[in-house]
Amino acid sequence: MPLQFHRFVDSPQEGTILMFFLGTKSSETTTIGGRSYQTDEWHNLPSNIASSISRKLHVQKDHPICITRAIIESRFPSPTYKYHNTFFPVVSTHQNFDSLGFPADHPGRSKTDTYYVNKDTVLRTHTSAHQADVFRANESEGFLISADVYRRDAIDRSHYPIFHQMEGARMWDRTKVPNGDITAAVWKDLEALPTHSMKVEYPNPPTHPERNPLQKEHSPDEAEVIAAHLKRSLELVVRDIFSRAKAAAIAASPDFVDEPLRVRWIEAYFPFTSPSWELEIFWQGDWLEVLGCGVVKQDIMEKADLPQQLGWAFGIGLERIAMLLFEIPDIRLFWSQDERFLGQFKGLSDNLENLKRFVPFSKYPACYKDVAFWLRSSSSSAGGGSRANTQDFHENDVMEIVRDIGGDVVEDVAKVDEFTHPKTGRKSLCYRINYRSLEKTLTNEEANRYHDRVRNALIEKLGVELR
Ligand code: DAH
Repeated sequence: MPLQFHRFVDSPQEGTILMFFLGTKSSETTTIGGRSYQTDEWHNLPSNIASSISRKLHVQKDHPICITRAIIESRFPSPTYKYHNTFFPVVSTHQNFDSLGFPADHPGRSKTDTYYVNKDTVLRTHTSAHQADVFRANESEGFLISADVYRRDAIDRSHYPIFHQMEGARMWDRTKVPNGDITAAVWKDLEALPTHSMKVEYPNPPTHPERNPLQKEHSPDEAEVIAAHLKRSLELVVRDIFSRAKAAAIAASPDFVDEPLRVRWIEAYFPFTSPSWELEIFWQGDWLEVLGCGVVKQDIMEKADLPQQLGWAFGIGLERIAMLLFEIPDIRLFWSQDERFLGQFKGLSDNLENLKRFVPFSKYPACYKDVAFWLRSSSSSAGGGSRANTQDFHENDVMEIVRDIGGDVVEDVAKVDEFTHPKTGRKSLCYRINYRSLEKTLTNEEANRYHDRVRNALIEKLGVELR
């Protein structure tokens, strides 16, 4: 039954109607956010994800994600920047990948990384999915798009399969700026931005002829001033976030001493910008990536029927920023409906100048359980053409099984051992799952019940053999 392994979720889910069944081919529809979609063998959307789509944390008043969005928006004033906060999360693979120049074999397109509704339809993996449409609509010189995004990923305190991003862009039009002089126009806008005294590091050269080139359609002066406007705009966001975080920390403990803020621009690659950079912040001993950005590829503007416009774009993860801003220690908390969490942010949407730090409520004990298993061997002569073999095993499938069963009770999943049998070549893996609720102490029996279901699901869905 190879079909079983093509589909990660192999039983019809809630809201899924079996339309017809012919031999091994089935055609079903599924409803997401009130809209109906045909599913096919690409469908890999678990019901817990589908049911969280309605939450829209970025527009829930007094939610820390919403507060973070509003603070960043305040740095990009309307009407120069138009805000889009209600775009629907189901998009075409064209919007999510092709319109941005992702090559056909880009790993981001794989079913192990992306939630597919069907072959041509996905849950957006980034807010960039809407760039081309918003450019084409050409309603404003700049825009911000905030939205929920979805990725199949690891489980730990900073990764969750749904998170929120904000996309920003600012374009200048050769036919509208005085004398057609883009460089002069962007300089003028750059000079109107505030300055700051934050220390900024540049470990890489700003561009590189092969790795991070200028585009042939842009003069070096144009690209340079657009990059300067982009970087200053984003540095001001970071400075603003950190000065609010510092004020909140001082309000909580007046003897708080902060370390000077360190940020750096590093070279990056995105299929839709060139040159491209990432901004990192030095935070609790590590460099933390907070956003990606660059000069928009002219090809995207040409396809949007706006070849005369050029400018910059960025994408920033809102959870990361909110975690820094409020000192929220675990990404699962954003999904909590517990008043001990939500109650701490009441009134802040109307009072962005007086943020309060999050005060963690008690941390319940961790409950670690290991599961070790053999992957199906790829060279099995037993026939049957098993697909869940070493080659097509992907860790994200384990993550999703654990997430599907344990939900927000799982804090962390980590691979603790890997071993290949010297004679048979079979591979064994061991994962350690930390069951720890944010809301109560789990009994060992409760943790065992989750763990037994995880063990069984690993056998059923991935065809592994437990050790
Ligand atoms: N979409 C990228 C991501 O999710 C972030 C990003 C990078 C957005 C560069 C942009 C950009 O608009 O120009 O990683």
